[in-house]
Amino acid sequence: MIKFTLNGRTVETDVPANVRLLDLIRDKFNLIGTKEGCGEGECGACSVFVNNLLQNSCLIPIGSIDGADIQTIEGVMETEQFKILDESYSIAGGVQCGYCIPGMVMASAALLSKNPHPSEAEIREGISGNLCRCTGYNMIVDAINLAAK
Ligand code: FES
Repeated sequence: MIKFTLNGRTVETDVPANVRLLDLIRDKFNLIGTKEGCGEGECGACSVFVNNLLQNSCLIPIGSIDGADIQTIEGVMETEQFKILDESYSIAGGVQCGYCIPGMVMASAALLSKNPHPSEAEIREGISGNLCRCTGYNMIVDAINLAAK
């Protein structure tokens, strides 16, 4: 039995230890804000926080998260920081198809918690693990810049 904290709630599961965290949170806990893009650790669509560190959940077997604190986009949506990011993404036009946005918001939140006033270069570095196929990134960078003001 694997026990961990998911968005502040203690949960248990007896699925095999090699099941991916991404599949567990989507299929068993119905937290479908976390997306699968590449499935290979390259796109960041599946980003979650594991013990407050941004991680790709497609690369994490649940056997390795026993006792960990996991936060998904649904957990982040409960925070004040999310309200600021939600508004800034909206104002800056940072959302087009939207598929990458949960991961982008996770990366934005991770960056701003470490560095509340990042430079443009630091913003680009902060989202460098997250791919977006629509925006060309500039509106996303603007959104994070706005959220930092
Ligand atoms: Fe995990 Fe792309 S789906 S990094």
